[in-house]
Amino acid sequence: MRDADGAERALLAFLESNAEISNSEAFARDLGVDHELLAGTIKSLHGFGFIEAKDVRRESWELTEEGLVYSRNGSPEVQVFDAVPAGGISREDLQRKLDDSVFSIGFRKAMSNKWLETKPLVSRKVLKVEDVVKQQLLDIKDGKNLSAADIDALKKRKLIVPKVWKAYSITKGANYAPTRTKAATEVTREMLLKETWSEVAFKPYNFQALGQPTEGGHLHPLLKVRTKFRQIFLEMGFEEMPTNNFVESSFWNFDALFQPQQHPARDSHDTFFLKSPCKTQTFPEDYLERVKTIHEQGGFGSIGYMYDWKREEAEKNVLRTHTTAVSSRMLYKLAQDGFVPKRYFSIDRVFRNEAVDRTHLAEFHQIEGLICDKGLTLGDLIGVLNDFFSRLGMKKLRFKPAYNPYTEPSMEIFSYHEQLNKWVEVGNSGMFRPEMLLPMGLPDDVSVIAWGLSLERPTMILYGIDNIRDLFGHKVDLKLIKSNPICRLGM
Ligand code: PHE
Repeated sequence: MRDADGAERALLAFLESNAEISNSEAFARDLGVDHELLAGTIKSLHGFGFIEAKDVRRESWELTEEGLVYSRNGSPEVQVFDAVPAGGISREDLQRKLDDSVFSIGFRKAMSNKWLETKPLVSRKVLKVEDVVKQQLLDIKDGKNLSAADIDALKKRKLIVPKVWKAYSITKGANYAPTRTKAATEVTREMLLKETWSEVAFKPYNFQALGQPTEGGHLHPLLKVRTKFRQIFLEMGFEEMPTNNFVESSFWNFDALFQPQQHPARDSHDTFFLKSPCKTQTFPEDYLERVKTIHEQGGFGSIGYMYDWKREEAEKNVLRTHTTAVSSRMLYKLAQDGFVPKRYFSIDRVFRNEAVDRTHLAEFHQIEGLICDKGLTLGDLIGVLNDFFSRLGMKKLRFKPAYNPYTEPSMEIFSYHEQLNKWVEVGNSGMFRPEMLLPMGLPDDVSVIAWGLSLERPTMILYGIDNIRDLFGHKVDLKLIKSNPICRLGM
């Protein structure tokens, strides 16, 4: 058996004294190499112009399993003939000497060939027979051609089946040489020491070759849109809040926001609770007392919710359901540090225990902005929202009264979508309730206007994605991550 190098040498040598190899398949057989292996060599030699290779499709014949057995043991008719002794034999005795199938096929054939007679014993009618079928099968195995009638007969007996060969016819190519020396790609130390470098054939530089694509980091569309939102907030004088805690206590996520402990959003159907650590136990105790009081009995002119507020409920750790949890911590801190007017924003991940569908995932990103100052009114909120959204290219806004446990009044924000030709909801907003702000210790003439929206929704609109699972999560096509346009807002 030759290897690929051996096959290559043999092929080039053959062409040196012959005009053509008409069938690479037969050539491979003569060389004793696998045709697949030779085909690889042919393609490579063709690629470098050593040879010309043309496809030839050839139909040939292949022995079936039965055909193979007969090519070894002889045809059944000859086996039967050979089993008949000179003096004859009873049919039963003859049958006993042979395999069932050999006997039944061979006996019938031998009779119709008029080789045997049966009265009274089975005996020979001719002296000698030739095993033509065996010879034909061996010829087929050797790739020889048979007459159409012979092929037909073997085909009918299911001893051969057709087989399609893909092979090549080969002639010398423009760069033909009897041997191929692999061009050197580097000057080696040895070439320099032995001063052989000047005789070595070097592979020419290929200035057309494309380099390896460089794999670098890629920005996800959500990151690009986030950058733009952050830029708008910064231009409007907002400071970014630290949002690096995905795990939050129910206290900061809900209670501090005057969200009652029986509120449906606090149900495990809507919120992911942590198993470990399942509780937070350190809180500013005096503030916690004031939150408990405002829930149970109210204060500052409010009657509260009038229920038994339980610390255990507030201690439960959750994956934060909104970034407003961060806003509540920041406002509390601001009250402790001594109030100054502030503009805060955040853009980060939140989690909700929701059924996943084409517009909802169990985690998404919220964009949140708030302004904390003395004497702010609903008019200020509407003004700021118009400013903010017009920077995103949404110039026409409408507001619809809504409800949040922690804001009053609350407004849903709608924007007129020029392409969709309709009003679409783009966010939620409101003025934080005194029941939230006053227990924190903020001066009572301080108001906070705030709004929130998802990062996913504008990203999907901007990037023309209609299924959120194509944007985020394990089903995302990495092509989207590796190549997506820059984000330009409000143009
Ligand atoms: N936290 C609200 C939400 O999850 C958004 C919001 C923020 C509403 C601030 C009003 C004020 O949808």
